[in-house]
Amino acid sequence: MEFIDLKSQYGALRTSINERIQRVLDHGQYIMGPEVKELEQALAAFTGSRHCITVSSGTEALLISLMALDLKPGDEVITTPFTFAATAEVIVLLGGKPVFVDIEPGTCNIDVNLIEAAITPRTRAIMPVSLYGQVSDMDEINAIAARHGNLPVIEDAAQSFGASYKGQRSCSLSTFGCTSFFPSKPLGCYGDGGAIFTNDDALAQACREIRIHGQSARYTHTRLGVGGRMDTLQCAVVLGKLERFDWEVAQRKLLGDEYRRLIEQTCSGQLELLEVKPDRDCVWAQYTVKVPNRDAVQEALKQAGVPTAVHYPRPLHQQPAYATPQTFVHSETMAGRVMSLPMSADLTAQDQIEVVKALAASLKFSAQQ
Ligand SMILES: Cc1ncc(COP(=O)(O)O)c(C=O)c1O
Repeated sequence: MEFIDLKSQYGALRTSINERIQRVLDHGQYIMGPEVKELEQALAAFTGSRHCITVSSGTEALLISLMALDLKPGDEVITTPFTFAATAEVIVLLGGKPVFVDIEPGTCNIDVNLIEAAITPRTRAIMPVSLYGQVSDMDEINAIAARHGNLPVIEDAAQSFGASYKGQRSCSLSTFGCTSFFPSKPLGCYGDGGAIFTNDDALAQACREIRIHGQSARYTHTRLGVGGRMDTLQCAVVLGKLERFDWEVAQRKLLGDEYRRLIEQTCSGQLELLEVKPDRDCVWAQYTVKVPNRDAVQEALKQAGVPTAVHYPRPLHQQPAYATPQTFVHSETMAGRVMSLPMSADLTAQDQIEVVKALAASLKFSAQQ
């Protein structure tokens, strides 16, 4: 069994993806070819955003968004320490300071009740992370931002493309939504890629210029930029994947519900499931559970042929590059407990039964250690 089954997905979309790749090879516009605009229009329509700007990765999407906001050295950006390093990395790269706020243990997303106390005169943005494919409480975050001088809000939606919040799509819920097309993400390409979403015309224009070395016209470098374009070939791959993406999003939700049902039936009381808020549809970038004795459970699952992963084993405030002497109890506790099970739209009912059977046995085995 694969942790993420990309081969079955390719099998289902082979003809379309191959044809789209071939078309790029035939027209030869490898950089900023017609597929780039086609994808941007399709993704903007999918999310309900006015603008989509494709970029070379999710990291670059976050970096370019902060550059468009003109983040200056010493500026503070509020986010959580329980995320992938890229979230804080881009802030530090621009000389800014990540100001960490703990997560709520149920969803592992930022605890919105702690945000206001972290705001200072240097706060320049709030960057919630839609971890595991579930959007944070964006209405509340936007309301806090509005109360504090209309602070920009950047949703790190690297894991949540396709998810929704109160019927609205992730990426369209705040000043910026930034996603990743890393192959294992809910919508992935065959390399690196990402996208920025915004409804703000001026910020969209700034992002378009920044991704191409700050050019407002060819060889007119109006501002500082980066080489941050997404390859035409990768855009063609995502266009191919979009053909059944609605089905995949619905399927991921069904698989998440089925994991819950099977685990509650088989392992009740032995582990904790992620809380999904009733006003949200999670896209389950990872199906993550919280287990006791994680190392032993993981090892037993490995022996049973079930791959697992940990997102993430160490919160950022305890990483050498971002170390602060602060304590974030829930982030630290979750880093020691979370474990992700195999998840992809092509996971079969039989796969799920086998995973949960092995999980139950592993929990039993680890409890006896
Ligand atoms: C929460 C989060 N933010 C940012 C990123 C960065 O995306 P990319 O790998 O496309 O640069 C990731 C990717 O793993 C992520 O999970």
